[in-house]
Amino acid sequence: MRIGVLSGGGDAPGLNAVIRAVTKTAIFKYGWEVTGIIDGFEGLLTPTKTRQLTSWNTRGILFVGGTILGTTNRGNPFAHKIVVNGKEIVEDMSSVVLANIQELGLECLVVIGGDGSLKIGDGLMKLGVPVIGVPKTIDNDLMATHVTFGFRTAVETATDALDKLHTTAESHQRVIVLELMGRYAGWIALEAGMAGSADVILIPEIPFTMEKVAEKLEERKKGGSKSSIVVVAEGAKPVGGHMAVIEKAADGYALRLGGMGEFVASEIAKHTSFETRVTVLGHLQRGGSPCPYDRLLATRYGAAAVELIAQKKFGQMVSYQPPVISSVPLESAISNLKLVDPEGELVKVAEGLGVSFGR
Ligand code: F6P
Repeated sequence: MRIGVLSGGGDAPGLNAVIRAVTKTAIFKYGWEVTGIIDGFEGLLTPTKTRQLTSWNTRGILFVGGTILGTTNRGNPFAHKIVVNGKEIVEDMSSVVLANIQELGLECLVVIGGDGSLKIGDGLMKLGVPVIGVPKTIDNDLMATHVTFGFRTAVETATDALDKLHTTAESHQRVIVLELMGRYAGWIALEAGMAGSADVILIPEIPFTMEKVAEKLEERKKGGSKSSIVVVAEGAKPVGGHMAVIEKAADGYALRLGGMGEFVASEIAKHTSFETRVTVLGHLQRGGSPCPYDRLLATRYGAAAVELIAQKKFGQMVSYQPPVISSVPLESAISNLKLVDPEGELVKVAEGLGVSFGR
C-alpha cells in the first residue's frame, strides 16, 4: 500500500506532528509506503513534486512549526490560475491531478487542511480518489470537530502578547488595540481575549458600535483604570458596516483581511481622550512550536487517519469528539463554519465579568 499525504491552505502549528504520526503509524504498524506531496495540491500538477517519507526523515519534527512538505492557500486544481499573455485565466486541472495520483501509485490521499483544502479533497473523492481529511486551522472554524490543531497554540501566542501589552499600556496610560487572526470566526480573539484579560473584545459574530466601546473605556477611566486593552478579531465589523478586506478574489471571496485594528484605534482616539496604539499580531499566530495540546491532538489525528485507511473508510475526516477521536463524512465536515455563539456560555461569562463586546 502506498499513501500520499499533503498539507494545504495556511500553515498551523502541529502540521509536522500530523505528518510524523501518519508516516510512523503507516510504516511501523502497517508496513506501508508514504509519499509526501510538496506544496499542497500544486505538487500533484505536472511535473509532480513529491518526496518519500520515512521514519528517519520525519524524526525530530514533532515540536517544529510550519510543514516539512510546504503548503499554499492558492493551489486549487479545480480552479487553477495561470497567466497567459499577461492575462489571468482559470482552468480545471483536476484530470491532471487524477492522472498524476495514478502515475505515483497512490492508493489514498491524506489531506491535512482547513475548509478550502478539505473541499478540494471532497471534490477529488467524488472523482474517485480515496481521500481522508485531517482538520487543521488556527481559526478553529470547522463545525464537525471539537477543535482543530493549531488553535490552542495560536491562543497561547496571542495571550502571551496580551500579557506583554498590559504592562506597556499601563506604563503609558494608553489604550492598546491588538488585532488577531481568525477570518470569519472570533474564536482566537474571544479565547485569547478572555485568557489575556482584555477589556473589550470585538468579534465578527457580534457587530459593534464605537459608542459602546468608548463608553466602556471611559467607564474604566472613571473607575481608576489608567489603561485598557482592546482585542479586535480581523473579521470584526461595526453594526451596519463591513469587514476590513485587503484583497478580494474575483468572486468576492475575501482572500486577505486586515485593518480593523487600525480603524478601531483611530475611532477610539476620536471618541475618547485616550492615546492609542495598535499591534497586529499577524503570522506570529501561525508560526512556532506547537503547544503540548496541539502536539498530542495532531498526533492522534495523524494516527486516526491511518486507521481509517486501514478500515477503508474513505471520504471521512478525523474529528475530535471528546474524549475520543472519531470521524465524520468529509461532505458534512465542510458544509458549515463553526462560529462563536453571541449568546453562548463564553460570551456570557466574559460579559458577566464586565468585558464589552461593543454591543
Ligand atoms: O486561516 C488561517 C489564517 O491565518 C486566517 O486567520 C487569516 O485570515 C489567513 O489565514 C491569512 O492568510 P495568509 O497567510 O494568506 O495571509
